[in-house]
Amino acid sequence: MTKDPLLKVTGLRTHFSSEHGTVKAVDGIDFEIERGGILGVVGESGSGKSVTGLSILRLLGSRNATIAGGQILFHGEDLLTKSDRAMRDIRGKKISMVFQNAMTALDPYFRVGDQLVEVIRLHQRVGKRDAKLKALEAMELVRIPDASRRLSSYPHQLSGGQRQRVMIALALSCGPDLLIADEPTTALDATVQKQIIDLLAEVNRELGTAILMITHDFGVVARLCRTVAVMYAGKIVESGDVATVLEKPQDPYTQKLLGSVLRLRSEVRRVSA
Ligand SMILES: Nc1ncnc2c1ncn2[C@@H]1O[C@H](COP(=O)(O)OP(=O)(O)OP(=O)(O)O)[C@@H](O)[C@H]1O
Ligand SMILES: [Mg+2]
Repeated sequence: MTKDPLLKVTGLRTHFSSEHGTVKAVDGIDFEIERGGILGVVGESGSGKSVTGLSILRLLGSRNATIAGGQILFHGEDLLTKSDRAMRDIRGKKISMVFQNAMTALDPYFRVGDQLVEVIRLHQRVGKRDAKLKALEAMELVRIPDASRRLSSYPHQLSGGQRQRVMIALALSCGPDLLIADEPTTALDATVQKQIIDLLAEVNRELGTAILMITHDFGVVARLCRTVAVMYAGKIVESGDVATVLEKPQDPYTQKLLGSVLRLRSEVRRVSA
């Protein structure tokens, strides 16, 4: 018996209506993630990466957004046919997301620990004391030094990298099967970026959490992902395992994206030489 993939997206189309007509933000894409797999979705700004992630969780929010077609099979069941209530249950428990610009999503007026406890109690039937223990576990899982003291910090008392770790802790606190991480490292400096990517790799290895990594950076894909889908204007123009796509990109757009990464690297080398 062959195992179903954890997530199998087919023919997904997400449209926004505006006074200027319809924006086909996601225009018929197919991809899958195996259990415990790591897929990178890479593409330039506006290519439809975030809308893809938000579509999976049906979190598009705005009234002008429609999922116009396709299937999103998660554990073999189509998320697009689930009730709102069933989706609420899946969000955070089975699939969670670290949103783009997540670092600014922590509430500045509440201690980090209280925010973690709130999220944990929203999804799990546990008492306050157990939720606190789980919050501590989550902080330790994401390697925040001095975790128990940090629980009583306010967000502004943490560094950018630590805040991002807290966001990842929030997303992982309910033990999801799939983590959608939307540009989780973009606002961080290079060293911290690398640490966060390594943390995600460890989480994947240790907990078996599958990851959908959204990024515009092929360096991140190379470091973390096993498979990659390259998006351009709402479509996937190329996909496959990372080594193959990086070594022998077939699509001209992928070649261009990779070319600019390589050019940038050689310029950096020249400047720093
Ligand atoms: N609420 C919305 N209403 C109308 N159009 C939208 C909305 N959200 C996104 N879009 C459009 O959908 C397209 C894809 O947007 P998306 O946010 O997925 O891009 P992205 O690949 O995540 O870009 P970035 O790398 O800048 O985050 C863009 O053309 C964007 O303008
Ligand atoms: Mg985005």
